[in-house]
Amino acid sequence: MGKDWWKKAVVYQIYPRSFCDSNGDGIGDLNGITSKLGYLKELGVDVLWISPIYQSPMRDNGYDISDYRAINPEFGTMVDFDRLLKESHAIGIKIVMDLVVNHSSDKHPWFIESRSSRDNPKRDYYFWRDGKNGSSLGGPMSSPPNNWEAWFSGPAWTLDETTGQYYLNLFSPYQPDLNWENPALREEIYSMMRFWLDKGIDGFRMDVISCISKPLDFPDGTVRLCANGPRVHEFLQEMRNTVLSHYDIMSVGENACVTIDEAKRYANNEGTELDMVFHFEHMELDGDETSKWNDRKIDFIKLKTVLARWQNGLYGYAWNSLYWCNHDQPRIVSRLGDEGVYREKSAKMLAACIHFMQGTPYVYQGEELGMTNAPFTALEDYRDLESINAYNKYVLEEKLYSKEDMLKFLQLKSRDNARTPMHWNDGPFAGFSDKASWIMVNPNHREINAAEQVRRGDSVFAYYQTLIRLRKEMDIITKGNFELLLPDDPDLFVYTRQHGQESLLVICNFSRCEKTFSPPESFNGAKLLLSNEEVPETINGITSMGPFATAAYYKK
Ligand code: NOJ
Repeated sequence: MGKDWWKKAVVYQIYPRSFCDSNGDGIGDLNGITSKLGYLKELGVDVLWISPIYQSPMRDNGYDISDYRAINPEFGTMVDFDRLLKESHAIGIKIVMDLVVNHSSDKHPWFIESRSSRDNPKRDYYFWRDGKNGSSLGGPMSSPPNNWEAWFSGPAWTLDETTGQYYLNLFSPYQPDLNWENPALREEIYSMMRFWLDKGIDGFRMDVISCISKPLDFPDGTVRLCANGPRVHEFLQEMRNTVLSHYDIMSVGENACVTIDEAKRYANNEGTELDMVFHFEHMELDGDETSKWNDRKIDFIKLKTVLARWQNGLYGYAWNSLYWCNHDQPRIVSRLGDEGVYREKSAKMLAACIHFMQGTPYVYQGEELGMTNAPFTALEDYRDLESINAYNKYVLEEKLYSKEDMLKFLQLKSRDNARTPMHWNDGPFAGFSDKASWIMVNPNHREINAAEQVRRGDSVFAYYQTLIRLRKEMDIITKGNFELLLPDDPDLFVYTRQHGQESLLVICNFSRCEKTFSPPESFNGAKLLLSNEEVPETINGITSMGPFATAAYYKK
């Protein structure tokens, strides 16, 4: 593989708490991951992105780190980690770690020191400000420095009694924001990154990295004002020069609120910042400006427009990530496909739709089985901080939604939908653990599970294997240009790719109805590459596509 090996790679995301429990405590762990390397090799993925496994109070399941250089005992030990790294490398699988440096945990020693007094040397590692009416020490109660609401509800500023000042927390009070303006803090972060890279890891997925540079006047508005802030590119270039460029690794930014123009800078082909970005535009099409909590569906025409715009906008300039699922999103089969008779068929169609695009595809654990949303009916079923806080805010405090409506919204949108344990088999606890897990197992593991799918030639798993293999074999998938056809069709997502003399036509029916489609004449005679139902081997004139059908045709 060359220096930009990640352009041909497929990444598999592991959410360690829910992947595989090797020691019977109901929580997934590192040895569990190691025990499944054979499965991952069989699937054909090249890289594992492992969500945080560091020491953490687990308020946000590890996205609140209290020691960046230690393994959380619930996941195992550093020896377990080293073994996972060694064994995955031995079979040609790379490991990418989560880098959560927009904020730390409030239990991190830096923060404990920082909050202890105004003149502590670590004070400036975080953002401390007086309230609107000055400090509240001994004086009248002040209000927060601005009106921002945290991503997980509540104010984005928390008053600390010890010094009478507020600290900034874009997510929750357990996750104080780190002050990247401070060069000593940046050097600590770079040194920690080298610690992991020197162990031999293959890169970082950078949590909300687009938010590390804040507008220092902290104007009223929303926390989104921190995205793509004044010094973010400067900080990432510094990180590239001082750390990343010294290793043969990949870096992917979780770039909340990124635009195409910004992405062209973050993930530019010259490689001065990151290798690729995650954008969220296609995932936010069922929310509104202030909140995602509703029962709105993704607008299909907008979905096509957004994905096409990113394909064309970055082409030749920067590199994209392709994904439907991760640990923050509901399951895509439930969101855009079908949980019933067309579950497998729609899972395959959705996979084909993005795997034939340009970028690096990410498969989230269980997506390759067509796993569905959790059937949770009560608030007590949920574990996620964001979901529980939203319920408290909208139902109990503001009384904006009824309990029933909010539970319905959680069923559709909660992050816990993606966090139920992986289905390894149809046995008790889905083969994830031998006892009840930290979050309920979805009872549909009796039908949807890896053991069954690995055995069956026409499974969703087998379909993902083929898509992953095709990406390696066919340059057009990584290199071809992109054109969206039928932008206004309410059901069909159709696009072409072109690379030299080669062309590829991808047809996806997102509806439950039979649809017909007339391919462009230039595709007459194109050969079938892959489909999820019986379609003609050669395309010639009008073709018919059943519910959730997909077909890809290739011509040279
Ligand atoms: C994005 C992560 O993906 C999410 O899980 C986390 O809660 C927030 N960043 C805060 O770290």
